Amino acid sequence: MIRTAVIIAAGVGSRLGDAGNNNPKGFLILDQIPIIEESIQKLIEHGIERIIIGTGHLKEHYEALVKKYSIISCKYNDLYESTGSMYTLFNLKNLINEDFILLESDLIYDKVGLKVLNNEHNQDVILASGKTNSGDEVYIEVTDKGCLKHLSKDIRSLNNVSAELVGITKISYSTFQKMSLYSEKTFKIKPKLDYEEALAGIARDVDISVRIMENFAWCEIDDKVHLNRARKEVYPKINTREKIQTIKRNILLNPGPATTTDSVKYSQVVPDICPREREFGDLMVSISTELTRFVANTLEYSTVLFCGSGTAAVEAILSSVVDNGDRILIINNGAYGKRMCQIAEIYELDFLEFKSSPYDAIDIEILESSIRESGRPMSHLALVHNETTTGLLNDIQTIGAICGRNNVKMIVDAMSSYAAIPIDMKKMNISFLAASANKNLQGMPGIGFVIAHKETLDNTKSIRPRNFYLNLYAQYKSFSETYQMRFTPPVQTMYALKQAIMETRMEGIEARYSRYSKSWQTLIKGIERLSLRYLVPKEHHSRIITTIVEPDIEGYNFNEMHDYFSASGFTIYPGKLDNENTFRISNIGDITSNDIMSFLNLLEHYLSNIQKGSDGINV
Ligand SMILES: Cc1ncc(COP(=O)(O)O)c(C=O)c1O
Repeated sequence: MIRTAVIIAAGVGSRLGDAGNNNPKGFLILDQIPIIEESIQKLIEHGIERIIIGTGHLKEHYEALVKKYSIISCKYNDLYESTGSMYTLFNLKNLINEDFILLESDLIYDKVGLKVLNNEHNQDVILASGKTNSGDEVYIEVTDKGCLKHLSKDIRSLNNVSAELVGITKISYSTFQKMSLYSEKTFKIKPKLDYEEALAGIARDVDISVRIMENFAWCEIDDKVHLNRARKEVYPKINTREKIQTIKRNILLNPGPATTTDSVKYSQVVPDICPREREFGDLMVSISTELTRFVANTLEYSTVLFCGSGTAAVEAILSSVVDNGDRILIINNGAYGKRMCQIAEIYELDFLEFKSSPYDAIDIEILESSIRESGRPMSHLALVHNETTTGLLNDIQTIGAICGRNNVKMIVDAMSSYAAIPIDMKKMNISFLAASANKNLQGMPGIGFVIAHKETLDNTKSIRPRNFYLNLYAQYKSFSETYQMRFTPPVQTMYALKQAIMETRMEGIEARYSRYSKSWQTLIKGIERLSLRYLVPKEHHSRIITTIVEPDIEGYNFNEMHDYFSASGFTIYPGKLDNENTFRISNIGDITSNDIMSFLNLLEHYLSNIQKGSDGINV
């Protein structure tokens, strides 16, 4: 948690004309109190214990704030007229001794931005927004890893624009020192250096991540046009949004829907829109393209969106791509493999169930001989990648190679692996993949999707549809022609998915998997320390969900334990195995190993209390 905020407040505000002459920009009043005081109150609300203000023009106004807010200290930049914001910041170097949030004094903003920066895992984060058309934009170009590459007011000097700088940045102490060193060298040639230029100047050596909140409500007030826009448009928007912002952070340790970021939650608050509008079509096209890109190239593969849970996507594939006369082998090594068999049965597909242990790896040789020696040729094979029942990770690469050798099309239920475990559909020989928005993508529930090899999907057009809504080819064809879903899409959930995709891209799938893996390792160590047992051996574990054998302690009761955790904001999940009493802990979503540590501490407390037979548990 960041405790210090630094506000740059030295500017003359000459562009404001009369409105700025007697008041520094931070003292403009849009409602009851100056905008700087609104900002200070938001900072305090978000855990800031110390505010340092770099002053210049009309410094006495800011100095007067010290009497009202004891956590504020001011330092005057006596060269404010001939220097820029970086010098004002540099001038504070003897006061700054830890990580801080840097803000500009003339900003109005939705306080959710502070929450988002606080919850960010990275140490250095620039808050950015989508297009504002404010006329004074600082454009940002990011690297493939979602970090700052360049920024400029001159759009032509960038190769591409990903976002606009807001003016609220989380800066680690070590990055501040690097900015200071960079500036000391640069001041001689450019005394009016701005702090954002110093950030860009060190961006080659430091990963400064850029957190884009597409719809973020904010405005800098530099001139009368800004002031007008702030009054009429942005300030009312901020007020409306902040009124609905008291969302508690629950830590969901169930395997999805997962804990989401606040920015994903708030991205759903958008103006109502008819999904038949072109703007919404563009949104869905970009979602579909990005979802494909995570696992395949968009020339050969395409994503088909459905309004429905993940099972809808699995059902859409199974019911639409296996023709009469085709034969499918379905691997059943857990509840979700079994579910595919149930679907196949309902649609009367010609299928062969291949049963395998829910804890141990599939025997590849037996599998291949089952494909080869099952009488008639097998046309398809379906399996689950990460079997969420136990956390067993099936080796889709090897099984994909077997399918390739035997001319079998592979269908993968990647519901709880997609967007965490790297997948390459072409390399792994996957023809159809099913996933959903609310697991590792960290979006909201309501959207299931199929990623398909286009040519293979095209070849299914002659199959007589067995259903209407879930017909994969019909949904694909209609979307390719109209850029619309055939039937009403979950509009707001799509906006959340767009934000979730952007956040997945920014973090990167490998980095997300490293974060999840770190949480899983913390979990496994804790389970071992508490003498509990987990089922799937480490070498076959997905590192996404762990099945733990229930403790053999008198007084243990899953439902009571669930309620005990619930009271502290943690949700745990029951087991799904017939022959073993288990419970499950998943480590997906916007959580870190620190949350898992907190979970383990609570678990230890719960277990030691029932062991003592104490009634001190506060349910
Ligand atoms: C592997 C797998 N397949 C399918 C599903 C079903 O998804 P939904 O509950 O969204 O229908 C799940 C849900 O956890 C899953 O983990």
